[in-house]
Amino acid sequence: MASLFEPFTLKDVTLRNRIAVSPMCQYSANDGVINNWHHVHLGGLARGGSGLVIVEATAVSPEGRITPGDAGLWNDEQAKAFAPVVQTIKDAGAVPGIQIAHAGRKASANRPWEGDDHIAEDDARGWEIIAPSAIAYGGGLPKVPREMTKADIERVQQAFVDSAKRALSVGFEWLELHFAHGYLAQSFLSEHSNQRTDEYGGSFENRSRFLIETVRAVRAVWPENLPLTARLGVIEYDGQDEQTLSEAIELIKQLKANGLDFIDVSMGFSGGKANIPWGPAFLGSIAERIRNEADLPASTSWYISTPQQAEALVQEGKVDLVMLGRPLLTDPHWPFRAAKELGVEKPSWVLPSPYAHWLERYRAA
Ligand SMILES: Cc1cc2nc3c(=O)[nH]c(=O)nc-3n(C[C@H](O)[C@H](O)[C@H](O)COP(=O)(O)O)c2cc1C
Repeated sequence: MASLFEPFTLKDVTLRNRIAVSPMCQYSANDGVINNWHHVHLGGLARGGSGLVIVEATAVSPEGRITPGDAGLWNDEQAKAFAPVVQTIKDAGAVPGIQIAHAGRKASANRPWEGDDHIAEDDARGWEIIAPSAIAYGGGLPKVPREMTKADIERVQQAFVDSAKRALSVGFEWLELHFAHGYLAQSFLSEHSNQRTDEYGGSFENRSRFLIETVRAVRAVWPENLPLTARLGVIEYDGQDEQTLSEAIELIKQLKANGLDFIDVSMGFSGGKANIPWGPAFLGSIAERIRNEADLPASTSWYISTPQQAEALVQEGKVDLVMLGRPLLTDPHWPFRAAKELGVEKPSWVLPSPYAHWLERYRAA
């Protein structure tokens, strides 16, 4: 039996295999309300055989959206639209998860295929952006954010809490906090973006405060028997990697002490100069180090393309789950194909009969 197809249990949740759909923004919602596109997209991914389907970065407040098309969970209408999709994911045998997020200084942008840059100042579609410090992200994101007041910090943390409650109310069973990729939480942690002089900036302890407080507050409303997870950028590839990694490991230990159950290992993208060693499964050894030193179950993504790469990561104990993005967009049935390639004749799940019946007959012919 391939390790990739062994079930994985965390708290009261069991995934049928170690393949997870990494969160992927569709930028296709209206006022944060998801629609048929999301239903087809997520339902198809669940049908394809992944064990866990994590819904895209979903904004906890309107100003926390990356683009005007982001999904949201700041009101009940948005939550209600998720309910049938959650049911479809469950019906297809996968566990429904969601990533909740605030985009910070990377907010108020055009969709990737419409420029991927900040919406112009004089364009009514844009909005005021907020961040730990008044420092622009740079490049195509030149807007200078307003430095958050303590009231802003409290309001955004409360928005994370309220969104977690809404996610729970519509049946999500796995919650991922977006603490990566240069968005709000990551920008509190990084010295590139946080130059505050109050208790939320400066020392590592202060730069960690927003993240630790947010985990603690969300854990208080997210049930103990369901996984609370975070995606953290643990490395920037900016030449200061040993310091960033050691800080990340220390932070994850503290997040664990405050109720975090699982860590999704990613990169910081904090806006400084980065020299990323793109290549097959290149974050695998970083994830292994995080998993061992922070002593927490872990996943990673980025350029895990073949079933053999995914199998090796799990089998060698580098990660507990592989998060796949683009390979699943190309082929939502990647898990089904992977089972065949890895010689797993009878995985714990099968394609639904209307597909499986014909595929089996086709194979026998
Ligand atoms: C269309 C698209 C949207 C994405 N949106 C998100 C997102 O909402 N949240 C997130 O943490 N990462 C996001 N990512 C990153 C993916 O989750 C994943 O980490 C990345 O694509 C690397 O995995 P891959 O090489 O398997 O694609 C996105 C990637 C793609 C391709």
